[in-house]
Amino acid sequence: MKKMILPLFAIVMLASCGGADTSGGKTTEPVAEKPKDPAYDKGLALVAQNDCLTCHKINEPFTGPSYSQVAEKYAGADAAKIKEISEKIIKGGTGVWGSALMTPHASLSQEDAEAMVKYILLLKK
Ligand code: HEC
Repeated sequence: MKKMILPLFAIVMLASCGGADTSGGKTTEPVAEKPKDPAYDKGLALVAQNDCLTCHKINEPFTGPSYSQVAEKYAGADAAKIKEISEKIIKGGTGVWGSALMTPHASLSQEDAEAMVKYILLLKK
């Protein structure tokens, strides 16, 4: 019986040690990782399917502002602001970033336009 106790003790020590290591890893992970927002994938797919990238690039201004500039400008945008920007994509517009014109995207639904805006806002550096 006595012979059993020592190996058992060693196993318990090892297990608790390993446990401490994993929990240490777990506490740092969510901080290092970007929060996974489902809007990101949906918006990215829609931007790729539409003509957005003929005028917008992610990091450099093109015909329109870069998406990272847009994300910077509207950081912390609330639902009302997201709605307003989405309506502009649908209706088209000019004057905020310069004199170039964004063409209307009348066939887009409000929901899809908002998904794209949410994706763009996640591109903040
Ligand atoms: C014909 C070129 C063109 C296309 C196509 C285009 N954009 Fe734009 N976009 C612009 C221009 C130019 C501006 C800046 C308008 C301004 O200064 O008010 C702009 C501005 C924006 C803004 C910022 C709006 C604001 O008021 O600050 C967003 C967001 C945006 N576009 C998203 C999109 C999305 C999403 C698509 C695809 C559905 C798209 N754009 C397609 C040219 C374009």
